[in-house]
Amino acid sequence: MFGFLASLFGRHPRAPEGVPLVAEEDPTIRTPHHRVLDIKGMICQASTRVPLLRLLASGRRNVSLLSGEKIDDLINCAVRNIVDRHRLADSPSPSSPPPSQIVAEARKEFDTLLAQYLRSAQDGGTSDARPFEIVDGKPRSKGFDDMQLELGRGLHVGTVNLCAAARLKSVGDVVYGEQRNAFLDVPADESTKKMMRHLGLGYIAQGENGYIAGEGAEELGRIFGKAVRRPMKNGTLSPDEPVALFILSLLLKQVLGYPRADGEMCVYSVPADPVESDRNYIYHRGALESTLRSLGYTPRPMVESHLIVSSELKDQDYTGIGVSCGAGMVNVGVAYKGVPALSFSTLRGGDWVDQSVAEAVGISPEKVREIKEGGMDLRRPNGRLEGAIAIYYRNLLAYTVETMRQKMSDAQNMPSFAKGVPIVCAGGACRITGFLEMFKDELEKSRNFPVRIEFIRMARDPIHAVASACLQAALEETAAQTEAPSALAPATLERAAVSGKPMKGLPSLLKLRNSKVA
Ligand SMILES: Nc1ncnc2c1ncn2[C@@H]1O[C@H](COP(=O)(O)OP(=O)(O)OP(=O)(O)O)[C@@H](O)[C@H]1O
Ligand SMILES: [Mg+2]
Repeated sequence: MFGFLASLFGRHPRAPEGVPLVAEEDPTIRTPHHRVLDIKGMICQASTRVPLLRLLASGRRNVSLLSGEKIDDLINCAVRNIVDRHRLADSPSPSSPPPSQIVAEARKEFDTLLAQYLRSAQDGGTSDARPFEIVDGKPRSKGFDDMQLELGRGLHVGTVNLCAAARLKSVGDVVYGEQRNAFLDVPADESTKKMMRHLGLGYIAQGENGYIAGEGAEELGRIFGKAVRRPMKNGTLSPDEPVALFILSLLLKQVLGYPRADGEMCVYSVPADPVESDRNYIYHRGALESTLRSLGYTPRPMVESHLIVSSELKDQDYTGIGVSCGAGMVNVGVAYKGVPALSFSTLRGGDWVDQSVAEAVGISPEKVREIKEGGMDLRRPNGRLEGAIAIYYRNLLAYTVETMRQKMSDAQNMPSFAKGVPIVCAGGACRITGFLEMFKDELEKSRNFPVRIEFIRMARDPIHAVASACLQAALEETAAQTEAPSALAPATLERAAVSGKPMKGLPSLLKLRNSKVA
């Protein structure tokens, strides 16, 4: 299903199931008289076999297959284009391009054709034979690809923000790569393309359709007063956007860069089970996993709220409640001594506030967001618009507290806490002044709240808490894999045990990783 992503990135993923179609040897065959480039072979090497069972396991019941003829067609077409381009003669001339360049071009050519074919097939459109043009913009900041990094990456996949984390080899500092999870459709005519090149904005064009993805989209949207489109909605791939996976894949490639070693560990955040029973995140998780594998990583999902517990509640023996308030959802996780006891997500987050206020007062959600993020205080709202924002924030928190109460009361396996437990909040929606006070108010109002709350506080770094916890988990797991098995066994067993006498100060990440994800 997601095989096209592998080709899209021009990487040969190290998926255990991946079987190269041809032996991975130098595809240049030398003859005594002239050089023949096995372009077909090179292109075949860019493909990956995916077992049907894996597709089914990722939630697909209908699997579209590319016929052998279609693959042949695509290969032939790619070969023709490259040969036309270089007009390869029987004997190499001094100006013949080096094989590495031809390999790169062959893959790119085939990737473009295959991505184009599969995108239209997967998204239900008609097959559009026009090629894609992907133009990189001027990088705004140094990307991970230019840094000396340790093995292991963290990735927070959010509805509006993508944040990757890595650790610098020399000094051990954590560095972050951030990107807006947004895109804008623009006409792909020559004058628009020229303008985008002038502004240093990267774009993707196909025929007359063009897309700008990431921060550039936000910037341009602001300048022209146009609302951006989003690949994700309410914490998961948006069902309303046919190009969602395509754009998200490109953004992930940008923010995460390529791995330093094949199969490098990448821990990424996923939402907890939604309270709405008609929703699940199986497709979203499967799509992310495939994208990360295509980039060459070994993906590991972890529940967002438990990541907050693992990064923030070390001093409380990893006992307490992690709450992540993002744009598309609120995630809540309860853990006892590092063992996840309960987690859930609701669909009310920052976007819900923006949308509700916009409908109530008749302005755009973008305008509401601007006011909300502009430094207002929930305790002392100024004027009608701020007043409406405060009303919906209170409603959001009352709803979150009530859902916590219900879920914790109904849970079969809730531990009985001997003393009060802390709540730690992270995520962009908590940054508004007065958030903690309002949350505390609502908790105090709640009758029969099943757990005594000792205190409520903000995470040390509410914006990076999840990405940084993902990175910590990835570094730990990478280290565990490289340790000698004899030295590793007792520690791993102790950490992985979910019952028995809890140990003080356990890192607990491996246990948290085993928590249930949708
Ligand atoms: N200073 C601020 N005041 C109020 N809200 C803010 C502020 N800064 C960011 N936000 C809101 O935070 C939200 C984005 O937060 P975050 O980056 O944590 O979300 P996300 O991880 O992308 O989404 P999710 O976790 O729901 O999938 C947006 O709704 C944004 O308006
Ligand atoms: Mg988030």
